Amino acid sequence: MESEQLTLVAREASAPQRKAIVSFETVFSFLILLFIPAAILWGWWHRAELPTPEDGLGYALGIIGVTMMAILMIYPLRKRLTGATWMGSVGTWFRIHMLLGLLGPLVILYHARFTWAATNSGVALLALLVVVASGLFGRFLYVHIHRGYSQRKLEVRDFLDELGESRLLLDADGDAGHLIVGYLRELERHALEKRSNLFHGAFAVFSITARTWLFAWRLRGVVRAELAREASLPGQRATDSEALIDHLTRYLQSIRDVGGFAFYDRLFRAWHYLHVPLFLFLAMTVALHVLAVHMY
Ligand code: HEM
Repeated sequence: MESEQLTLVAREASAPQRKAIVSFETVFSFLILLFIPAAILWGWWHRAELPTPEDGLGYALGIIGVTMMAILMIYPLRKRLTGATWMGSVGTWFRIHMLLGLLGPLVILYHARFTWAATNSGVALLALLVVVASGLFGRFLYVHIHRGYSQRKLEVRDFLDELGESRLLLDADGDAGHLIVGYLRELERHALEKRSNLFHGAFAVFSITARTWLFAWRLRGVVRAELAREASLPGQRATDSEALIDHLTRYLQSIRDVGGFAFYDRLFRAWHYLHVPLFLFLAMTVALHVLAVHMY
């Protein structure tokens, strides 16, 4: 046990310092998430001045939006063509899928001038918005059970490894770390319990998340008191408080991950059964809309 802890601590000490580098992707995603609501608000505000969808720019917006949505369908295709590396990585196509899944419907909203108008276009627009909302929910679930967008599906043992590792690191942080691990043992056991149905799973995710936040807040006091006590003892080596907080945060995150994994995994599978038919319904309504506007 002791040597395991020492190995972990040594491994962490030799690892390059994790710096808070904000990646280009994070900044880009943030800008897109700012741009889309702003564009929706602006468009809705100016909807009376937008070009008519029957011809010219308004018509072109319809074609652009549908083309964007046709391109985003390359992702499921690429995912299934496992050997088609010449097409680019699955992760890249997934990012394109999500980006066009937001920009395409935005363009369609401008094409529709933010109105439901005729029944056929109204149903197509509604189906589109439902698919986008479903896509966003799917993405929320996806990131809980995958490593990035690489399609690498995580397994329970990945989370258990991380949980054990983060607990050992915290346990090695002097008396304060050891004390905190003792406090959190019961919560960890609770997170590891098997839950028979989705409802129990949802409740557990909620309660574990709330309790980890509460602990994070309450344990700050325990950490401060313990560090002050250590500092008052002559000849005592001071615990690195930054590392301690870092390890505590990591341990709490691991507890949340372990507690939520089975739930998110189940829900993601159920979501797939809903999302694909919703998409097929959308494709049908778009086809009907295109037929209707060209026939009458
Ligand atoms: C018009 C908009 C969209 C359409 C037509 C659409 C369509 C689809 C389809 C057909 C799939 C099934 C893929 C499969 O079974 O392999 C899918 C999966 C998915 N979509 Fe979308 N989507 C749209 C927008 C979005 C948006 C806006 C997001 C999130 C930002 C999103 C996130 C996802 C996720 C997370 C998956 C599951 C990925 C996987 O299991 O590999 N989608 N989408």
